[in-house]
Amino acid sequence: MSRLSLALTLCALSLSAAKPPAKPIPDRNLGLSRTSVFDVPAPPAYRDEASDPGEKPLPKRINREYPPVIPHSVADSLPITRSTNLCLDCHAVPGPKKKGEATPIPASHFVDLRHAPEAKGTQVVGARYICISCHVPRTDAPPLVGSSYRP
Ligand code: HEC
Ligand code: HEC
Repeated sequence: MSRLSLALTLCALSLSAAKPPAKPIPDRNLGLSRTSVFDVPAPPAYRDEASDPGEKPLPKRINREYPPVIPHSVADSLPITRSTNLCLDCHAVPGPKKKGEATPIPASHFVDLRHAPEAKGTQVVGARYICISCHVPRTDAPPLVGSSYRP
């Protein structure tokens, strides 16, 4: 082996072996609050949506399979209890949707996926009864993380 090729081989070996160590992640980049992990920052104030149902245009839906955001105030509709569900009072309309009327509850909400996935019942199933466990009321809070998702 010539001196030159020996030198080249050693050089290549040392290049492959000497990977620079991974840089540590600074504390403030670990969470979503962008402060030190030892801080307990107060979340920024946000306002709940105050508009009445049907007052504002519906926000754009990015995917028909996601539960749509509740576009109106829910202050008067909560809490949902065993005997009272005001969401149902307005949304349990037969459809098809008429202008100015609450969006009818979709067929999927009448199917008990655990016990009778083939049958559409006449009542909203228990797993869909607490509407706000899936549908989030709109607020003016800025998103914590941007999204570049396009359907
Ligand atoms: C007083 C009647 C009323 C009550 C009570 C009510 N809603 Fe609504 N809801 C509406 C109307 C009207 C719209 C708007 C429909 C439109 O603009 O086309 C709407 C829109 C929505 C939408 C958006 C639907 C879509 O097409 O994107 C969701 C989700 C929703 N409501 C969920 C709820 C939930 C959950 C509750 C209970 C916490 C509730 N609503 C209580 C009348 C009501
Ligand atoms: C387990 C989660 C879950 C619960 C609980 C739930 N929903 Fe939904 N909802 C969804 C999903 C997912 C969609 C979108 C897919 C679909 O239409 O089935 C949806 C869609 C809707 C829509 C839009 C229908 C359309 O034609 O665009 C309305 C209105 C609605 N839900 C009302 C309600 C009401 C009122 C309740 C409470 C009685 C409720 N939902 C409870 C998950 C849920």
